[in-house]
Amino acid sequence: MKKIASTSDPLWYKDAIIYELHVRAFADSNNDGIGDLPGLMSRLEYLKDLGITCIWLLPFFPSPLRDDGYDISNYTDVHPAYGTLGDFKAFLDAAHLRGLQVMIELVVNHTSDQHPWFKAARQAPPGSAERNMYVWSDSEEKYKDARIIFTDTEKSNWTWDDTAKAYYWHRFFSHQPDLNYDSPLVMEEMLKAMRFWLDMGVDALRLDAIPYLCERDGTSCENLPETHAAVKTLRSAIDAGYANRLILAEANQWPADVRPYFGDGDECQMAFHFPLMPRIYMALRQEDRLPITDIMAQTPPIPDNCQWALFLRNHDELTLEMVTNDERDYMYFAYSADPRMRINVGIRRRLAPLVDNNRRRIELLNSLLLSFPGTPILYYGDEIGMGDNIYLGDRNGVRTPMQWTSDRNAGFSKCDPARLYLPVVMDPIYGYQVVNVEAQLSDQSSLLHWTRNMIALRKLFQVFGRGTLTFLNPSNRKILAYLRELNQGDGFRETVLCVANLSRFAQPVTLDLADYAGCEPVEMLGYVRFPTVTRDPYVLTLAPYSFIWLELQVASAVEEMPVD
Ligand code: NOJ
Ligand code: CA
Repeated sequence: MKKIASTSDPLWYKDAIIYELHVRAFADSNNDGIGDLPGLMSRLEYLKDLGITCIWLLPFFPSPLRDDGYDISNYTDVHPAYGTLGDFKAFLDAAHLRGLQVMIELVVNHTSDQHPWFKAARQAPPGSAERNMYVWSDSEEKYKDARIIFTDTEKSNWTWDDTAKAYYWHRFFSHQPDLNYDSPLVMEEMLKAMRFWLDMGVDALRLDAIPYLCERDGTSCENLPETHAAVKTLRSAIDAGYANRLILAEANQWPADVRPYFGDGDECQMAFHFPLMPRIYMALRQEDRLPITDIMAQTPPIPDNCQWALFLRNHDELTLEMVTNDERDYMYFAYSADPRMRINVGIRRRLAPLVDNNRRRIELLNSLLLSFPGTPILYYGDEIGMGDNIYLGDRNGVRTPMQWTSDRNAGFSKCDPARLYLPVVMDPIYGYQVVNVEAQLSDQSSLLHWTRNMIALRKLFQVFGRGTLTFLNPSNRKILAYLRELNQGDGFRETVLCVANLSRFAQPVTLDLADYAGCEPVEMLGYVRFPTVTRDPYVLTLAPYSFIWLELQVASAVEEMPVD
């Protein structure tokens, strides 16, 4: 008997709205300055009211926390600062009770150097099974075609280990040795860890850093056939024992290289669309739709049971790895005036500061996130327009405590402010005194209310998560116009026209909607009827940075609606 997830729809992830958060950053229940699982539990109603349907938790496992928990020292327990396994189970049940799915991390590529497997490996004789759980070499020459990812901290993918008297391989920090997927023991252990959480009822797993599982000389050591074989093994173990679960590939690659992570529908059901994200920002800054339409044209079709994961920001830097050199220069110029805003190959800022706290630009970007084909992922705090702190090290500037109220420590914790895991944002624009949940809940025109309304609207139309995408080609390139269509063949049909003005000035546009002549467009936020579509060009005028979503209804459906 397969163990079923908390939802009965095997394609639930296609209609999901995912909310990414770190337990440490969300709410502190015992006032030690560190967010914890009981704290998170106490905020579940907030998330439910926001309308999100799936919570993605960043790593909460035992860890020295030198990479915010992506450096794991035990895969099947909870970091004591965040609570206990019992607390996790209680959180999971409470989330499920509210109809929320839960996604956690499966950090498959590497462990902490403090993991018992690594401690044993460095002591074990060369060639032994224990030693071979990691990747060793006598020289740094091996795999030299592999790029370095953390360019600001690491000079090599090899680090000398004096105990082992050999180099070990790591694609990220030197304290994160890569596991060796040529060793059957590694897959066995990873399957054990995976089953541990799936048995408990976790709905989804994000597979961290998945392109780097296997290494072969003379290659970039990314996306190798052996790596895909390993992903297929994980997936078939899930399919054998569980139903309605999801695995999400974190593969920061070009669309053509991400496509194989969907396999024939037998690898990951979802994968992040990394190249789309910077191009959304580029299109906005250039006031030109081309970067978006261009990358979408390069995006191959994916199997029916699969889905793209879309995001504007996350816990890492806004990565600029999947852009050309010219595009990267442009992005740095446009979005990181202060060199402190840059890290590795990217920009460490939150959504609101990236767009100069311009409400219309925030809304416009979110409208794209919510209406492009795929499942949107919101990063905690962006729903209230939280700011960042570029003076904190690494990527910590975008990982500060959630701002709940204007009270001490933003209502996140009652501890001595000096004890907080990171300081709360306190500047006059984004500081917690101004930007917080409590204030925005009581302000009907806040970003929080707007976000909630948009999520609710999106959830009413399955077309957003499941429909096709067709770009229109109006001559005004400052306008991005596209149709989302879902025709399920059983009479169920949804057609939505989305039009976005990427410019800071008002723009006219004429659209060729001849194929939809006779349709009655209805503006979806206000349920306002627009002029009937004819075979003639359809004319719209859009205010600066505005967008409009029109449902194209067949004439009979709106017969009863009054026209002003
Ligand atoms: C990807 C994660 O998103 C990032 O935060 C982490 O530093 C690397 N994997 C390495 O673990
Ligand atoms: Ca705590």
